[in-house]
Amino acid sequence: AARERVRIVEVGPRDGLQNESTVIPPEVKAELVNRLTKAGLDIIESGSFVSPKWVPQMAGTPEVLKRMERQKGLHYPVLVPNMKGLELLLDLLSQQPKSEVPYTDEIAVFTAASDAFSKANTNCTVAESLERLSAVAKRATKEGLRVRGYVSVVIDCPYSGKVNPVKVKDVSQALLDMGCYEVSLGDTVGTGNPTTVDRLLRTVIDGGIPASVLAGHFHDTYGMGVANIFAALNHGVRTFDSAVGGLGGCPYSPGATGNVATEDVLYALRGSQYEAPGDLDAIAEVGTWISKTLKRQNASRVGRALEAK
Ligand code: HMG
Ligand code: MG
Repeated sequence: AARERVRIVEVGPRDGLQNESTVIPPEVKAELVNRLTKAGLDIIESGSFVSPKWVPQMAGTPEVLKRMERQKGLHYPVLVPNMKGLELLLDLLSQQPKSEVPYTDEIAVFTAASDAFSKANTNCTVAESLERLSAVAKRATKEGLRVRGYVSVVIDCPYSGKVNPVKVKDVSQALLDMGCYEVSLGDTVGTGNPTTVDRLLRTVIDGGIPASVLAGHFHDTYGMGVANIFAALNHGVRTFDSAVGGLGGCPYSPGATGNVATEDVLYALRGSQYEAPGDLDAIAEVGTWISKTLKRQNASRVGRALEAK
């Protein structure tokens, strides 16, 4: 039988680098995107148009978009928190010669399932953020951009504790209603396990949101990322966010570590009924390179095992 396709959204250049203590030069970020593209990944989140006062690590995103070798048909989403961020992006796009592959054709808007996290991350409540983002999504759609939505803290909030899955369902529905083609459910803290992910997805899907418009975004703080992905696969979810080398973390989620490593996800999918884009060995080499460049240990267990071979 034909193997079922799983989409991988590589978030290393954005989620992976937004929390580094040193600011990484745009040429290194662009090289990371280029190397990931060569390794066969086709959706690569490449930066953020957020306030540089809040997240200085993402300030060079326009430079990154200009420098990277963009390929037709691939997607390079960028995070946009408000109208100001969208205007900066649209302005950049308008300066680009029509003959070039656009810097990006997709934005990601982000909110949360708790007011405490929303306030810490974007200085507004969930309701306020949905209002803000609705205007952003409408304008972006009118300008021909695809819009993806994120819900953070879908399992636990670092400030207010356990999150009710019904709240996640409601916020996800609001993102779909404003025009997001997909909603990525973020276990920002990385405390989820297959049981809590199962419970969450049962509530969200029974609440009327089809698995086909959902994605899983699992931080791997407790090492549950791959297990959580398989729990979500059982519910029909076929899109997952991951970061090469297990890079990542959110500056407003204290203690959380990186995203589930792309290498670990691809290794787990090998030989299963699922197939995903990307050459595992080539991606592992990118993980080795970026870990060395950032002077940090490669957080991918699969990456380390392949390095040792
Ligand atoms: P604020 O301070 O309330 O914003 O922040 P403001 O509108 O009052 O503006 C303050 C200043 O920032 C002004 O400059 C604005 O012009 C400027 P000043 O007049 O003081 O010189 N400003 C901007 N500059 C550039 N780009 C912009 C922008 N907006 C305002 N877009 C705001 C509100 C939303 C801007 C801020 O809280 C922010 O940028 N937050 C982003 C935080 C962030 O990036 N977090 C990480 C990404 S989310 C994540 O990691 C979770 C995820 O991975 C899923 C998961 O794991 O759960 C997606
Ligand atoms: Mg994240």
